[in-house]
Amino acid sequence: MASKRIHFIGGGQMAEAIIRAIISNHTAAAEHISVADINDERIRFLNETYGVQTGVRQETALAEADLIIIAVRPQDNLAGVGRIISQHAAKESAIVSIVAGVTIEKLVGYIGDDRSIIRVIPNTLTDTGLGYSGAALNALAAKEQVDDFLNGFGKVQYLDESLIDIFTGYGVAGPNYVYYFIESLADAGVLAGLPREQAWQVALENVTGAVAMLRHTKLHPRQLLDINNSPGGVGINGLYELNNSDFAAGLQRSVLAAVKRTTELGKGHS
Ligand SMILES: NC(=O)c1ccc[n+]([C@@H]2O[C@H](COP(=O)([O-])OP(=O)(O)OC[C@H]3O[C@@H](n4cnc5c(N)ncnc54)[C@H](OP(=O)(O)O)[C@@H]3O)[C@@H](O)[C@H]2O)c1
Repeated sequence: MASKRIHFIGGGQMAEAIIRAIISNHTAAAEHISVADINDERIRFLNETYGVQTGVRQETALAEADLIIIAVRPQDNLAGVGRIISQHAAKESAIVSIVAGVTIEKLVGYIGDDRSIIRVIPNTLTDTGLGYSGAALNALAAKEQVDDFLNGFGKVQYLDESLIDIFTGYGVAGPNYVYYFIESLADAGVLAGLPREQAWQVALENVTGAVAMLRHTKLHPRQLLDINNSPGGVGINGLYELNNSDFAAGLQRSVLAAVKRTTELGKGHS
């Protein structure tokens, strides 16, 4: 992978997060990464901050790239981006689109039906190496073309394109639910009387520890709840209130709302 050439079209927030991660964990060297963006200031910033190539002509960068990452917004000139790729990119390169809501069928319409196209919904935990991106491949694409790259900013699950919206609302939006849970939990500690910093540290440790415990024991959460909750005890009294709050259904409704919104945005509803 270290010698693969990667060209980004669009050097915004998501491209930067991916670039920072893949350079820092040596998935790709800065001299093998090029970026084109219509915003000169952005280009200068990325070059000065990460040492990526920004002076190469787009045509040359496309011709030399093994991976081409489309990282513009859905409302940007995707037809123009597709045209320049189809004119200049090497036929054996793989085209990765991270543009939310744009289907492989639409990408084929812009780029042509004779290329490897991979539609990716990137995870946003890029700096941690954790979190799953979702990737759907067209018939010409192979996992080996993108596996190292996608694992360079987290992990990856390959899926049928029909599951991408669900993956977005449940998986990629997933850290939001967890951030909100942790914030609410720390607030509960403060409400009960613990100093904020102590409540915060305990919340973080409990979330990390509970995940580690599930992985370590391979037990189902219900089994661990049964072990922790003695008859009439502290835990079961707390859980009774949580059940009364509609916690599980509320969480599940929020995931369904996120999935629904993903689908609406993909259809062009603002
Ligand atoms: N941010 C996330 O968490 C996230 C998560 C999943 C997926 N995505 C997807 O990732 C894509 C990028 O999102 P983002 O948050 O990084 O957006 P962003 O920060 O606005 O980045 C897009 C960049 O592309 C540039 N651009 C527009 N048209 C161009 C063209 N024809 N050629 C070259 N550069 C062009 C824009 O320049 P100007 O600003 O000058 O127009 C901007 O710098 C989106 O499609 C989004 O759906 C983002």
